[in-house]
Amino acid sequence: MRVCVVGSGAREHALADALARTAEVVVAPGNPGMAGLVRTDVPPERVEAGLWVIGPEAPLVEGLADRIRARGGLVFGPGADGARLEGSKIWMKDLLAAAKVPTAAFKAFAELGDALRHLRTTPGPWAIKTDGLAAGKGVLVTSSLREAENDLRAKMSGQAFGEAGRRVVIEEALLGEELSLMALCDAERAYPLAVAQDYKRLGDGGTGPNTGGMGAYSPVPFAGDELVGQVMERAVLPTLHALKKRGVDYRGALYAGLMLTEEGPKVLEFNVRFGDPEVQALLPRWTGDLTASLAAAAEGRLRDADAPTFSDNAAVCVVLATPGYPEAPRSGALIEGLDQAREVPGCRVYSAGVAEGPQGRGLVTSGGRVLSVVGTGPDLASARRVAYRAAGVVSWPDMVYRSDIAAGGEQ
Ligand code: AMP
Ligand code: GLY
Repeated sequence: MRVCVVGSGAREHALADALARTAEVVVAPGNPGMAGLVRTDVPPERVEAGLWVIGPEAPLVEGLADRIRARGGLVFGPGADGARLEGSKIWMKDLLAAAKVPTAAFKAFAELGDALRHLRTTPGPWAIKTDGLAAGKGVLVTSSLREAENDLRAKMSGQAFGEAGRRVVIEEALLGEELSLMALCDAERAYPLAVAQDYKRLGDGGTGPNTGGMGAYSPVPFAGDELVGQVMERAVLPTLHALKKRGVDYRGALYAGLMLTEEGPKVLEFNVRFGDPEVQALLPRWTGDLTASLAAAAEGRLRDADAPTFSDNAAVCVVLATPGYPEAPRSGALIEGLDQAREVPGCRVYSAGVAEGPQGRGLVTSGGRVLSVVGTGPDLASARRVAYRAAGVVSWPDMVYRSDIAAGGEQ
């Protein structure tokens, strides 16, 4: 089968790499670091393929899956109706409330005055979120009233996130450990992937601003089958059924961002695609035929045989970013050591924010998150050693990465 992977990040690189084990793959548009993969600049709906796998949320939210389906194409990824789960936090929270899915208490606001009044009359800490897409950066968690007020002003004026921020959700801030659980879905059925843990903050020890994700690892030793079963029963399946009730035929990945609170797991967010960088740490452990499983979900005929299965190996992904990320990434630096990193045994390197260097001289940084370096091994400690050995081989001036991925500390 010929599979078109849509997107240009490290998640799409990892997906293309894994799909290429059992399919002919073309990436649209991909990036110049995707050595050995076929890429095309043709718009995805015009690529010849038997299956489309759409990586990022933005094209899903703006209806790419619908357009391809309208031409008779088979797509892994929801239509614009299902993608609202990620495209509007207000819509998502309303759906969760209707489906009785455990989540943080919340209120939605379109008027600054109402939002400020709410802040002043409810105890913090609060999580303040843009309604629309903000590449993982639209959430502020704070117990400072002043910081919260300033954030509301910046968001609701349109200054910080444009239209995406004009409406906001204010939630109670939850405390606990965060986990990501993704599932393959076909509107009726859902099968979980292994659990991964993501590091959203920029700095070691869970400090600094929220980012798109600075690293991830899998498996998560404290997240066993019981927890997965509980999240499937209480969060993923009720959400899928609530979508169906609203007429949404959801075929694709559903990603539950979870907080393990004292009252049990609660949903922080749903994403309508695979997590980046979580999936970079999951695909090296995937033992089944990825192409067959994604095609089955796309066709609406998921069966037990398509359920994702994972090896006992561990994988650790470390994201290498440019200085200034996430606020003002500085690009254009020559990337050194990429080929040497790829040769570290047990390591895979997936590229995201890269561009061709001048006169074909290697690759330069272009954007915030540049590379995902993934180490694999029989256990987390060895996978971690491999990932950091390879990360240490790559360099550009002021390269930014966390040194505590999978080290057991604060996320
Ligand atoms: P979201 O895009 O909703 O997943 O939020 C991004 C990050 O903000 C999450 O991964 C959490 O680290 C944090 N966050 C979001 N909502 C809450 C909440 N209600 N309480 C505490 N932290 C939160
Ligand atoms: N790693 C978080 C996300 O993909 O949204």
